[in-house]
Amino acid sequence: MEHEELSNWFEAQKMLLQTSYMAAAQPWQQSGVGLNTPRSAQDWEVLRRPIADCITTSGSFLDIGCANGYLLECILNWTYERHLHIIPYGLDFSDQLVALARKRLSDYADHIVVGNAWNWSPPQKFAYVNTGLEYVPERLQKAYVQRCLDLYVQPGGYLLVTEYLGGRTGIPALRINDVLQQWGYTIEEVRESFLEYDPPARMRVAVIRNMHPKLTTGEPL
Ligand SMILES: C[S@@+](CC[C@H](N)C(=O)[O-])C[C@H]1O[C@@H](n2cnc3c(N)ncnc32)[C@H](O)[C@@H]1O
Repeated sequence: MEHEELSNWFEAQKMLLQTSYMAAAQPWQQSGVGLNTPRSAQDWEVLRRPIADCITTSGSFLDIGCANGYLLECILNWTYERHLHIIPYGLDFSDQLVALARKRLSDYADHIVVGNAWNWSPPQKFAYVNTGLEYVPERLQKAYVQRCLDLYVQPGGYLLVTEYLGGRTGIPALRINDVLQQWGYTIEEVRESFLEYDPPARMRVAVIRNMHPKLTTGEPL
């Protein structure tokens, strides 16, 4: 993909997501759940709590594609129930959504930044990093996973790769762990959840541990 074509792809994605999320009223809609189908706060929790359940130690958590920050806020609450202390960070390529996220997590406003996951260089590495593959074109997804591990996840930390049924992932639904395994990654853990009633929804999160000791150059802020 040529540079201009890639820029146009990201710009089109950003405008599409930003326009629909910013026009929505509920916090979960501003994070992409329930835009076309009525969904409740309980539905959101079913579809997102498995991400929090992958977090087993206190530490930093970066949500790549943080939208309005609602997932970060929920992660803080859901992990606090287990007495974990999470320091939240967010990245999104929409400045309008980042403004919402900074308002929502005002104590951590300076942890939430505008940038494109494909070329943003983080000033530090994180214990947990959450992302989806659909943030880059399909042919770049494998390189994107490696980029996340190399640049974003601290040694011994975890990359959480989510798949949401109905998303534009370009890969078969709920096969994220198979796809990552085919690319040579060892999957530490898979969690998933379902909304059974009509219309159904599903999510799955596959966890990769960053075992590369040579990738230890990231300095804390
Ligand atoms: C479905 S929402 C995810 C919200 C939350 N992380 C969650 O999992 O519920 C996707 C978000 O990712 C952002 N996004 C998509 N591609 C991105 C990219 N290449 N770089 C940064 N943000 C991106 C969009 O602007 C949108 O806010």
